[in-house]
Amino acid sequence: MSQTIAIRRPDDWHLHLRDGDMLKAVLPDTVRDFARAIIMPNLVPPVVTGADATAYRDRILDALPRGAVFEPLMTLYLTEATDPEDVARAAGSGLIKAVKLYPAGATTNSDSGVKDISRVTPVLERMAEIGLPLCMHGEVTSAEVDIFDREAVFIDTVLEPLRERVPGLRIIMEHVTTSDGIDYVKSAADNLAATLTTHHLMINRNHIFKGGIRPHYYCLPIAKRQTHQMALRAAATSGDSRFFLGTDSAPHPDGAKESACGCAGVYNSPNAMSCLAHVFEEEGALQHLEAFASLNGPAYYKLPVNEEKITLKKMPEPLSIPASLQTPDGTVTVFDPECALHWAVVRHEPVEYE
Ligand code: DOR
Ligand code: ZN
Repeated sequence: MSQTIAIRRPDDWHLHLRDGDMLKAVLPDTVRDFARAIIMPNLVPPVVTGADATAYRDRILDALPRGAVFEPLMTLYLTEATDPEDVARAAGSGLIKAVKLYPAGATTNSDSGVKDISRVTPVLERMAEIGLPLCMHGEVTSAEVDIFDREAVFIDTVLEPLRERVPGLRIIMEHVTTSDGIDYVKSAADNLAATLTTHHLMINRNHIFKGGIRPHYYCLPIAKRQTHQMALRAAATSGDSRFFLGTDSAPHPDGAKESACGCAGVYNSPNAMSCLAHVFEEEGALQHLEAFASLNGPAYYKLPVNEEKITLKKMPEPLSIPASLQTPDGTVTVFDPECALHWAVVRHEPVEYE
C-alpha cells in the first residue's frame, strides 16, 4: 500500500540563491516545494544595506518562474560599518527578516564579515530592541583551531559571551553540525534556535574521503564524525520546536568545486524534501516532519505558517532526480545521498499556478 503524508508547505530557513544566471537556474528547484526562504546575503559584493536588499529581492522576484508562489525573506550581511538605523528601517518596513553574521574568513564570500564582534554591539542591541533575529555562521576562524572544532570553540568563545552581553537578542545558530551545538541550543533560553541542513543529516566526515576526496560533500561547517551526525538526526526528528530546516543549498559550478582549492557548498534544493522524508522515515519520526520543515521555523520567526499543503508519496520505484543542473555558468552537481530516494512531492494544494 502506498504511503502518503500531507504537510503544510515547507519553508527553507537558510538558502543561497546567488545572482544573475545562476539565480535564474536554481530558483525553480526551490520554489517547486518551498513557499518562502531566508535568503543569504553573501553575494559579491554582499547585500549590506536596505537598498541592496530591495534591489536583490526585486532581482529574485523577476527571476521567478511564471506563476510561482514564493516569498524571498531577505537578510542583511552584517559588517563592522553596518548602521543600526538602516537595519531598523529595513526591518520596520518588513523588507528584512534577519541579519546575518559571518565571522570574516569563515566561509565563501565572508571577507567583508565581522573581525571583532564587539564592534557590532550597537547593531545587535538595536536588533534586540526591535526583536530582529541574528542568523549566525557559528565557527571561529583562527588557523590554530582545528577545522572540526571550530563550531564548539565558537560556542564557548563567541556565542556564550555574546548572549551574556546582549541577552535579549534572538539568535539562530545556522547549520549546526555538532552535538555540542545541539546541547547548547537545548540548554539555552527560548531566544536561541538552530537550523539543520538535509546533507548534514545524511553524511558524516567519512563521506568526504570515501575512496578519494569528494569535493561535492565539502561544505562549511564541514561534516563531523558520525556521533555528531546521530545527534543532529535525533534533534531534527524529535519535534523540538527549537530545531528547523535550513537547507544551506549553495550552488557552485563543478569547475569551482573540483579544483585544487575547491569551494565549500552543497547544492541540495532539488532533493531536499525527498531526503528529509527519507531520514524521518528511517528514524521512525514521519509524524514530526511537518514540525521540522513547516511549523517550527515560522514559529521562531514569528511568521504565519503556510496555508497551502504539499503531499509526499512513497513511490515503489526509486525517484530519478537529475544528478546535476545545467546552468550558463556550468554544471552544478546535485547532492548525492548515496541511497535510493522514494519519497516524492506529488501534489501542492490548492494549486496556485497560472
Ligand atoms: O558550504 C558553504 N557554502 N557554507 C557557507 O557558509 C557558505 C556557502 C556558500 O555560499 O557557498
Ligand atoms: Zn550558508
